[in-house]
Amino acid sequence: MSDTRIAFIGAGNMAASLIGGLRAQGIPAAQIRASAPGAETRGRVATEHGIEMFADNAVAIDGADVILIAVKPQAMKAVCQALKPSLKPEQLIVSIAAGINCASLQNWLGEQPIVRCMPNTPALLRQGVSGLYANKQVSLVQREQAQTLLSAVGLAFWLEDEQQLDAVTAVSGSGPAYFFLLIEAMTAAGEKLGLPREIASKLTMQTALGAAHMALSSDVDAAELRRRVTSPAGTTEAAIKTFQAGGFEALVEKALGAAAHRSAELAEQLGQ
Ligand SMILES: NC(=O)c1ccc[n+]([C@@H]2O[C@H](COP(=O)([O-])OP(=O)(O)OC[C@H]3O[C@@H](n4cnc5c(N)ncnc54)[C@H](OP(=O)(O)O)[C@@H]3O)[C@@H](O)[C@H]2O)c1
Repeated sequence: MSDTRIAFIGAGNMAASLIGGLRAQGIPAAQIRASAPGAETRGRVATEHGIEMFADNAVAIDGADVILIAVKPQAMKAVCQALKPSLKPEQLIVSIAAGINCASLQNWLGEQPIVRCMPNTPALLRQGVSGLYANKQVSLVQREQAQTLLSAVGLAFWLEDEQQLDAVTAVSGSGPAYFFLLIEAMTAAGEKLGLPREIASKLTMQTALGAAHMALSSDVDAAELRRRVTSPAGTTEAAIKTFQAGGFEALVEKALGAAAHRSAELAEQLGQ
């Protein structure tokens, strides 16, 4: 990325996180530019990140090697169609819009190299994880550019089949909300067992963080880690047996299946 020029179309939460991540990795402000219709957004992002801001998307992409489109999914069609006449064939398009597939992007933009990404909200704290899919026009160098971009806000994994992005949406895209639900439920249960709410909440969140750190740094899988902390006839076993008697694993599978199905449905609707 030493001399890659990046243009962001849209400068909201996600774009600002990516710009902050790139700047933190030492990418000079002069290599990054962004556009947004709102003067307030332009002023805020220019002040915070020291980058040049534009009101006109076509001007922002002039001379860019990579164009990252970070507008709401509902705005994608109009934004892409308006950009099309100004695009150079070698410019890489990176889309982070949820539920907009490559076929729709190609319809609106033409035969560009396109990387479609599915990041998640912890990207706002640079603790995100993304799935990436490249169409066949994307070169190896452009893959590396997209990887560097998304890695600025967390981990990034390539997928060979675009449909797998529906599964990524179900696992990590929507995933933070599942953990929030578990945090809510464990906090409420801790309170019912007699703990002050504040303490139940902190115990739950720190446990989630600690367990994720343990699982990430361990060389054995989560099932083995669980076995190691589950003594026969102990307290953990009592809880795990109760979860399993309630069909926990089957419920998780059903929930993620519903999310993946909805992701595919939304792609149909948004891509019209
Ligand atoms: N937030 C997440 O965690 C997350 C996770 C996964 C995927 N995504 C995807 O990331 C994309 C952006 O999400 P976000 O949360 O960053 O949204 P956001 O904060 O609402 O930002 C959207 C940005 O688009 C700008 N914009 C609107 N119309 C435009 C136009 N015609 N031309 C150029 N810019 C325009 C807005 O400008 P103004 O500020 O001037 O109004 C704003 O800066 C979405 O497609 C979403 O699906 C987000």
